[in-house]
Amino acid sequence: MTDFFQSITEKLKSAGIEDAKFEARLIFAFVLNQDADNFYFSCPEVSKEQQAQILEITQKRIEHFPLCKLLGKKGFYKYEFIVNEDVLSPRPDTEILVEAAISIIKEHSFKTMLDLGTGSGCIPLSILGDVEGLKATAVDISEKALNVAKKNADNLSLSKRIEFVQGSWFDEDILSKLNKSYDVIVSNPPYIPSQDILELSTEVKEHDPMLALDGGKDGLDSYKRIAQISKEIISDGGFILLEGGIGQAYDIEKIFEKEGFTKHKILKDYGNIDRCIILKK
Ligand SMILES: C[S@@+](CC[C@H](N)C(=O)[O-])C[C@H]1O[C@@H](n2cnc3c(N)ncnc32)[C@H](O)[C@@H]1O
Repeated sequence: MTDFFQSITEKLKSAGIEDAKFEARLIFAFVLNQDADNFYFSCPEVSKEQQAQILEITQKRIEHFPLCKLLGKKGFYKYEFIVNEDVLSPRPDTEILVEAAISIIKEHSFKTMLDLGTGSGCIPLSILGDVEGLKATAVDISEKALNVAKKNADNLSLSKRIEFVQGSWFDEDILSKLNKSYDVIVSNPPYIPSQDILELSTEVKEHDPMLALDGGKDGLDSYKRIAQISKEIISDGGFILLEGGIGQAYDIEKIFEKEGFTKHKILKDYGNIDRCIILKK
């Protein structure tokens, strides 16, 4: 067992996987159906079938499949979310937006929230989990992504407090599918400039949906449209919290100021990059 664990760690390391031992532990824990936090590789026996499954997952990881999509789950904020190739893998940096939204919603006793581009549902479901009495609408263009988000809502027993809407913010009739007003709007839209997509890691460019990545020529297409529709449905005194890409915070701020929003705050991510843009109506 120890030798086998070691050999899997070595395989991952040689393939350039940064945190090889940690990932090996997650793969073993998954296959042996153990809690990764309490997993001691010297304890459980590994059957021949389990060894084959571990080797199969390791091989795919070496080929740069994202680990979370091989395991079908990703920890985000306080919860575990189902993920697959139909949704963006939730990123730790997005937790900054979630924490800021929770604190604003609690401070103002807000009751309604809209998430534009929900993917796995990780943003609104994490917020709902922390704020009693809040209700959410979550929009995505992708029916397949919405199916994942609905499963996550069921798993977290939050389905009664969230409504899912399939549609595009570029649709002319999008507002007719939404409520008249929301206290808070959150969004992590696609923001990678089209020409930069080829430079992304294999894990991202081949396993996150292109719909979740491509933000058009300058990466800002979605913000421009979201600013136009948000001003129609945000309550007076409401807030909008947006995730942005590297070097985009200032441009995003200006796009929203042009539509009548006022800058509230810009928050940095764990890598000291301006990541979360918060504006007020
Ligand atoms: C960057 S991902 C964010 C997913 C999730 N909110 C998260 O933070 O992990 C952007 C999401 O927006 C959706 N999307 C892209 N273009 C859209 C559009 N025009 N209208 C609605 N949703 C769109 C994608 O399908 C994807 O799920």
